[in-house]
Amino acid sequence: HLLEPFSVHIDFESGLLSPDPVVLVRRLSSLAGYFLQNADTDSEVYSVHEIRVPAERDHLLSSTTIVLPGKVGDEYYMTKGHFHANRDRSEIYLTLSGEGLLVMALENGTTVTKEMRPGVVNYVPGHWAHRSVNTGSEPLVFYAVYIGDAGYDYATIAERGFPVVVVDRDGGPSVVPNPRYLA
Ligand code: PA5
Ligand code: NI
Repeated sequence: HLLEPFSVHIDFESGLLSPDPVVLVRRLSSLAGYFLQNADTDSEVYSVHEIRVPAERDHLLSSTTIVLPGKVGDEYYMTKGHFHANRDRSEIYLTLSGEGLLVMALENGTTVTKEMRPGVVNYVPGHWAHRSVNTGSEPLVFYAVYIGDAGYDYATIAERGFPVVVVDRDGGPSVVPNPRYLA
């Protein structure tokens, strides 16, 4: 698929792109069942700003994600999280601003959690489900690059959950077993 070269500007503080990208906004209502407690508002939780290229093997898709600060009960705002539909496809995250935790899990329940802070590159190999959690008081902003035909499998996480959840314990983040995880 032959494309013309192009450039996009990213504001590292806000995560906003120009020219205008494709934007997807996730609110608490679209995250029903993802948090342990039910939310009583419909606040925005995160948005994804995607640079538009064909979702094919010969392209690199990329986007910024802006996870707002907030909690549902004591659980920090986070993304849905997913496996790639093509399980072996890898991804790179570069955090631009804010702070958080990247929770990654294999289908067998093995879990690895890595810090996200400005300048840190997190490598997400294929087969690892990934979810970003904003543990700070400012928006968590990161840039993600992935193989064009990775695709998304949200259903597995929607049904089973992640093995761990990230909660506020005495004012700081704590990674604890998810009581609702279906092993
Ligand atoms: O490609 C990625 O993994 C990210 O761009 C995510 O899609 C983004 O952070 C939003 O998370 P999710 O797709 O799990 O809702
Ligand atoms: Ni991904």
